[in-house]
Amino acid sequence: MKPFYYATMTFGCQMSESDAEHFAGQLEQLGGTRAASWEEADVVVMNTCCVRESAEKKIFGKIGELKKWKLDKPERILCITGCLAEKDGEKLLKRAPHIDLVLGTQQIPAFGSLLREFADNRLKRTITGEAVAAGDDCVDQAARRSDVTAWVPIMHGCNNFCTYCIVPYVRGREKSRPQSDILAEVRQAVQDGYKEIYLLGQNVNSYGKDRGEEQAFAALLAAVDQVAGVERIRFMTSHPRDMTEEVLRVIANGRHLSKQIHLPVQSGSTSMLKRMNRGYTREDYLALIAKVRQYLPTATLTTDIIVGFPGETEEEFADTMSLVREVQFDMSYIFLYSKRSGTPAAAFENQLPLEEKKRRFQALNGLQSEISLQLNRQMLGQLLPVLVEGPSKNDQRVLTGRTDGNKLVLWPDTGRHKVGDLAKIRITKAQTWLLKGQEADDDKPELYANDGAIQEH
Ligand code: 5AD
Ligand code: SF4
Repeated sequence: MKPFYYATMTFGCQMSESDAEHFAGQLEQLGGTRAASWEEADVVVMNTCCVRESAEKKIFGKIGELKKWKLDKPERILCITGCLAEKDGEKLLKRAPHIDLVLGTQQIPAFGSLLREFADNRLKRTITGEAVAAGDDCVDQAARRSDVTAWVPIMHGCNNFCTYCIVPYVRGREKSRPQSDILAEVRQAVQDGYKEIYLLGQNVNSYGKDRGEEQAFAALLAAVDQVAGVERIRFMTSHPRDMTEEVLRVIANGRHLSKQIHLPVQSGSTSMLKRMNRGYTREDYLALIAKVRQYLPTATLTTDIIVGFPGETEEEFADTMSLVREVQFDMSYIFLYSKRSGTPAAAFENQLPLEEKKRRFQALNGLQSEISLQLNRQMLGQLLPVLVEGPSKNDQRVLTGRTDGNKLVLWPDTGRHKVGDLAKIRITKAQTWLLKGQEADDDKPELYANDGAIQEH
């Protein structure tokens, strides 16, 4: 292809971010340069999500916005990829004929070949389902967006079929990458200067099971921890049913494994969990949390919760409220149930009115905000290693970064630190969703009891 400018747009989860980096990598191998804005691009790849209706609405809005861009210069190429492309396929082209290519979630390795083919013959295509053979045009390698974090997918797909969730239908069955491939990617990322490795999968705790390996995730974590030069390792998402003590033990003994666990509970009610097909009870979940606390007493704990699942009674919702109160999550990502056609829950009776879902969201969000603020206040005065991510979007004189527990910290830039440094920050102000602090590199030596804090002697 002739040299060109490209833009990628991403909707949805970190896996979607990571996939977009793979599209970008192939675009660069084909001669593409990232455009300053999508308006200036010759090729736009929109990597989509369909987990909730709200995501779809946003995406359709954006596709509409791109109509003028495409019609102004018809030689431009608009490619829709990812989960919504997989789900709606041909329908997208019918609805928005200014789209050129619709490529489903399995087509990433072949993307470069398909794009080049389109540039040559200009034949609009929709390809979903099973992977088409990978072309030899480009090696599938990520062009990473962050200067600090390298997203590393360790597996694709999901076998769980939670009754509300569309993911298993659009991302297919679990397929783990070989450990050697993952380690090679991690080593390369470290060599390229990335400080944080984020291992990704819809259900990382079942890593390797599709290849008949048990405890493979714990082994993988331990192996990544051994990679020379690696600074911080995080992972998501864990399924409570598959989380093992071995994984907790490996984290507890790890050198660079962040003490941060994202453990989606979805509901605090056993009857709801059953209707959601989650495979654990409220008591199972609480017992698992007790284990997490036993192995990792200082860990940051976050969760996902759905409110207004079909038939959710007041009592069942009250169970969720009480579980949140009991566990004291650092943060809960709360979602209004969204009906996804084709999933079992879409056909369940007693779909709740939007107003009721919103009321429950407000109540739960209010509770979580109080807890988050309280927990953040406990961090006041602590001296913590913070990985510098860059200047704040709102104020260039302020730096942002994250603690080992993944809490966002803001502090005045003194010019001493650059992106990717581990700064020592004294926490001076606690807000609900973030912490503020001061650089404290010259602080007198102190000893902190907190495990996550810097120990100085
Ligand atoms: N409606 C609302 N939230 C959903 N999630 C998944 N499917 C749906 C749905 N149909 C949420 C779950 C999951 C997170 C990524 O998205 O909480 O953990
Ligand atoms: Fe969806 Fe459940 Fe799989 Fe998560 S574990 S992707 S919620 S089906």
